[in-house]
Amino acid sequence: MCGIVGYIGKNVESVVIDKLKKLEYRGYDSAGIAVNSPTGFAVFKAKGEIKNLEKIVKKTDTASVGIGHTRWATHGKPDEINAHPHVSADNRWTLVHNGIIENYSEIKEKLVGQGMTFYSQTDSETVVKLLQYYDKGDRFDTISKTISALKGSFALAILRAEDNKIYFAKNKSPLYIAIKDGEALLASDVICFKGFAEEYYVIEDGEYGSVDGNALIVKNEFGLVGKAPVELDYDFGDVENVYDHYMIKEIYDTKNALLNNYEYYSNGNYKKLADLDVSCFDKVVFVGCGTAFNACLVGAKFFKEKFDVDCFTEVASEFRYSRPKLNERSLVILVSQSGETADTLAAHELAKLNKAVTVAVVNVEYSTLAKAADVCLPIKAGVEIAVASTKAYSCQVLTLYMAASILEASSRREKPNFDQVKAFLDGLSFGDTELFKRVSETIRYQQKIFMIGRGADYCTANEASLKIKETCYLNSDTYFAGELKHGFLALIDEMTYVVVFATEKEVLAKTISNAEEAYSRGARLIVFTCFDDIDKSFENKCEFIIKVRDIGSGLQAIENIIPWQLIAYYTSVSKGINPDKPRNLAKSVTVE
Ligand code: M6R
Repeated sequence: MCGIVGYIGKNVESVVIDKLKKLEYRGYDSAGIAVNSPTGFAVFKAKGEIKNLEKIVKKTDTASVGIGHTRWATHGKPDEINAHPHVSADNRWTLVHNGIIENYSEIKEKLVGQGMTFYSQTDSETVVKLLQYYDKGDRFDTISKTISALKGSFALAILRAEDNKIYFAKNKSPLYIAIKDGEALLASDVICFKGFAEEYYVIEDGEYGSVDGNALIVKNEFGLVGKAPVELDYDFGDVENVYDHYMIKEIYDTKNALLNNYEYYSNGNYKKLADLDVSCFDKVVFVGCGTAFNACLVGAKFFKEKFDVDCFTEVASEFRYSRPKLNERSLVILVSQSGETADTLAAHELAKLNKAVTVAVVNVEYSTLAKAADVCLPIKAGVEIAVASTKAYSCQVLTLYMAASILEASSRREKPNFDQVKAFLDGLSFGDTELFKRVSETIRYQQKIFMIGRGADYCTANEASLKIKETCYLNSDTYFAGELKHGFLALIDEMTYVVVFATEKEVLAKTISNAEEAYSRGARLIVFTCFDDIDKSFENKCEFIIKVRDIGSGLQAIENIIPWQLIAYYTSVSKGINPDKPRNLAKSVTVE
């Protein structure tokens, strides 16, 4: 979950820091850089965000190569000692690492037995100590022996004193390299190459090598590997931000993002998907984590409505331990904004191992998941930087809606008709900001907020609850409205807010009577509805009623979530929280 970068060229410190800022979404609890200097490595580390590092780095004209790291702590608390880069005791090697070394305790024990001293609590320090341990002069031999001893995931950027090169190695963590006129850039996300190069190289699992300003050498266990560059043709969209935070920018980006999605699929970019015949499958399984899982909940509803097939949803971190029965008649749909979430990738690996057909619903089109799945459905949300997913969630839901429509139409040998989607998007607005701010003023210090709903409203409630947990640090739980009296009514008192999503016509009366049950035990009600004919006496019991449009299709889920994303944003800001970087979290969870 860390970001790593390496650079060869001029103004090394500035370039490394600039690129680290682009990777800060991968972790922001500490950061560090190392550059070469006439007297060995110059290393700077700081706790917290990269701006803290920037303040202490001494820029030189002499450095020609450097590496940098932005950390999300796994082993050892976030402080300067545990921050990367780590340096070997002989000062000949230094490195930054993204991933987890699973056998680090064993390695550490062995090296301590050989007289080595460890300073940090990190797993990564064992790697730099191994480099020193195996170093007999040949760099590649040293690196090859080191990575052979490692179990787990790693993308490593390594410097060796006296060498004007960056060494690297990769296993199960992304790593990319670009070279341009005497300069080279290595990074854990190609977003760093924007404005630097038009093409780049993808490093694959098991590969290691070196790069200088002119040449890339890549090896694996069989010898030298030839690499062809890949064109950097991704539309990173508008990543500049004129708003106070990325979260609010990205909520407001939603409409354009959804329109991009609509245009992409309306233009017929679904050939591979349309070749699938749902009737050939015994089951469809939707897998994701966090917000992506909530999109899966909605997606499964779309498929259940349209097809006579069993649909299941599974949280990716549980999937491979739940003994899923998969075979070539299983369709596994994996949803992930980043396409790099470790649990989702592991779920995909298991699905392929069992010969299931896989569909990836991803935002990052160059991601591992996008490349590995049989069919890739881009959600076209544009770069999402805030940790809290907003526009990506709406685009995930729309993509799943599009996918179900495409598959249904192709089963009838027809072209899908997206007119309803277009009409929905044309009328999409961002609602009453003043009302949302008033709601946020009311809930910002509450400690018991329950979200209830039935059917698809339950899925929205789940996502709404996740949003205020992560951006507002509020204690919030979701329940099926019908489950109230099976236990959680006992928690309701005058200090409880119950947010009711009531946009499912079929079960409206039942949802409202559940809300009444909570109200009569003292709960304070915030109600989302799309219906005008709600009983007046019930309306009078609600502290807030938020009216959304009645969409009359599964797209209601998108209509409903946007107001709550705005409420979460205003609540977060009013509590003095940075909604883009909530404590303890990172955008892309690349470790299990
Ligand atoms: O990149 P992914 O969509 O696979 O990420 C999954 C979750 O980590 C992510 O949705 C997380 O829950 C977000 N912070 C929610 O806002």
